Amino acid sequence: MTILIPHQPHFGFEVEEKGNIETEKDLIYDEGFVMPHANSFGHNFRDYDAESERQEGVENFYRTNHINQTYDFVKRMREEYGKLDKVEMSIWECCELLNNVVDESDPDLDEPQIEHLLQTAEAIRKDYPDQDWLHLTGLIHDLGKVLLHPSFGELPQWAVVGDTFPVGCAFDESIVHHKHFKENPDYNNPTYNTRFGAYEEGCGLDKVLMSWGHDDYMYLVAKENKSSLPSAGLFIIRYHSFYALHRSGAYKHLMNEEDEENLKWLQTFNKYDLYSKSKVRINVEEVKPYYLSLIEKYFPAKLRW
Ligand SMILES: [Fe+2]
Ligand SMILES: [Fe+2]
Repeated sequence: MTILIPHQPHFGFEVEEKGNIETEKDLIYDEGFVMPHANSFGHNFRDYDAESERQEGVENFYRTNHINQTYDFVKRMREEYGKLDKVEMSIWECCELLNNVVDESDPDLDEPQIEHLLQTAEAIRKDYPDQDWLHLTGLIHDLGKVLLHPSFGELPQWAVVGDTFPVGCAFDESIVHHKHFKENPDYNNPTYNTRFGAYEEGCGLDKVLMSWGHDDYMYLVAKENKSSLPSAGLFIIRYHSFYALHRSGAYKHLMNEEDEENLKWLQTFNKYDLYSKSKVRINVEEVKPYYLSLIEKYFPAKLRW
């Protein structure tokens, strides 16, 4: 792996974190893995002691997320990260990067992260043996979490994980902890607070800005590196945390026909994403050649991140 720019961009937001939001947020909402943001992860984790405190942590996480994910913030992040000037590495190297960091820092996760990624992929492979693109999508859909790593700007948790939602139009009531949007500057901005906001009926989700996180980042990486994954694979990567859409059916007025088709695949995928925490052990070395062949098929050798 070549670390090109180990810098830490400043995006002008306040990092507001409390307790061990990192850990429990991900465990609850993002199927169980996380890279430590910051120095004091271990310390915080040992201090952790109550269910009520944990829920407070989750709510605090979403409060910070909902206040800071504005239309302008998302535009800035897409511009910054769309440059892909942080790191050069292959998909497999990225899996290992996530793996190593998690191993060092989270003693409560009892299996390497790469197994979690492979569990999703292998479960899909078993049921859809002919859809090799879907196997690879399972493997890579969470790789955007490297945004938490210092080489990628070490973004705070609220800008990397958690449910995602459109910005630039009204926040749907089905979004978790919706009430905290009242403190988002866009909430009272007439350009952005109507049903369609900055968009038009049936314009297609591709035209819609989503709150910034690991989904949209990995989508940008795949697209800009000219991956030949089919449109449904890119759609899954980009919207797998968009629960308001794939669980609650909100925002359909912004979708076009292609989105409707892709949504079916996303809903299929989501089942595997959720249940991949099963304790089925995967022999990494055994399946690695298969996934390396898929990476070679759908991605150039080295990717810019
Ligand atoms: Fe995810
Ligand atoms: Fe996932």
